[in-house]
Amino acid sequence: METKYYEIFEEHIGSEQTKDDLREIARALNDGEVVGIPTETVYGLAADATNDEAVAKIFEAKGRPSDNPLIIHIHDMKQMDDFVESLDEKVCDLMEHFWPGPISFVLPLKKGYLSEKAVANLSTVAVRMPAHPVMHEVLKHADTPLAAPSANSSGKPSPTSFQHVKDDLDGKIYAAIESDESSVGIESTVLDCTIYPYRILRPGAVRRDELTSVLQDSVDFYKDMVVETKSPGMKYQHYAPRQPLKIIENWDLSHVNFNKIRDVKIGVIAPESLRDHVDDYVEFVSLCLHEEDYRTAERTLYAALRKLDASDVDVIYIHAFKNNEATKALNNRIYKAAGEKMIED
Ligand code: TXA
Ligand code: MG
Repeated sequence: METKYYEIFEEHIGSEQTKDDLREIARALNDGEVVGIPTETVYGLAADATNDEAVAKIFEAKGRPSDNPLIIHIHDMKQMDDFVESLDEKVCDLMEHFWPGPISFVLPLKKGYLSEKAVANLSTVAVRMPAHPVMHEVLKHADTPLAAPSANSSGKPSPTSFQHVKDDLDGKIYAAIESDESSVGIESTVLDCTIYPYRILRPGAVRRDELTSVLQDSVDFYKDMVVETKSPGMKYQHYAPRQPLKIIENWDLSHVNFNKIRDVKIGVIAPESLRDHVDDYVEFVSLCLHEEDYRTAERTLYAALRKLDASDVDVIYIHAFKNNEATKALNNRIYKAAGEKMIED
């Protein structure tokens, strides 16, 4: 199929052309088509979450295992009345504080409204209200909750730009929206609120210390996220480039053999401040200026992985950041890209 492309940047919202485009996109979604959409975390692949056939197209386009449930996106809290069984007061406090934004809440599912495929037959549902103004308009116009995983081929790094979506899904999806690069760059925090204390299933831009300060209560971090399968997505290796990816901890290069004679082309992903440690023949991709600038590194990580994935390097070395509350989400993605378990504190 020939994928349709729409260009909608934030500043276009309100223009006649964009109003027309949004109406067309909403009609396609309501007709059961899938559309690539921008969000502040990563680009997503959206379908009407109440329509089995539409949701099936997401799994097909991505090549995603069907036992991995999707996050349901909304623009208005009232939409949850149809498919969430109950909302604790504490969860409402968190939603008021962090929504719209990069956090998904796992809640008890009220059966019968959403596609069973979207929730992978679980009795819970993950819900997010994105902050991206274009996604907000799409949700409003479609007037139905949208199931949306990241818009990458399964196993590839998540897309943080329109070009990434096009690279992975051109010809496989009905349409996609071209907008700006994702401002966060890694996927939302997934917080399980069906158990007490609440538990982070996937670390993201909203940090545990921010959650505990709003809750005035403790929040657990899901241990051993790769081995156990509470969040079904966690059992699959994600975000992986094609080549072997090796972690450099503490920027200790002593064990890295940068020996040209072995005829191996090396790529390195690290903060700019470490470039001097690397020989000139190495393909160096900078994540941020220095170690402390982890937010920039979150924003640029997936593009860096994709860049080297598409290059002719044979092996990639990537810098792991000093592990603390702030770098948890970033290191989680780095270790998972390397196929290793997240290292706990
Ligand atoms: O930032 C994001 O969350 C992006 C944008 C597009 O919103 N979406 C995203 O979706 O990252 P996806 O499908 O790539 O990741 C969803 C994660 C998976 O790890 C999945 O297993 C988990 O959320 N998940 C979904 N529903 C769940 C549930 N009921 N219980 C536990 N985990 C759930
Ligand atoms: Mg994903």
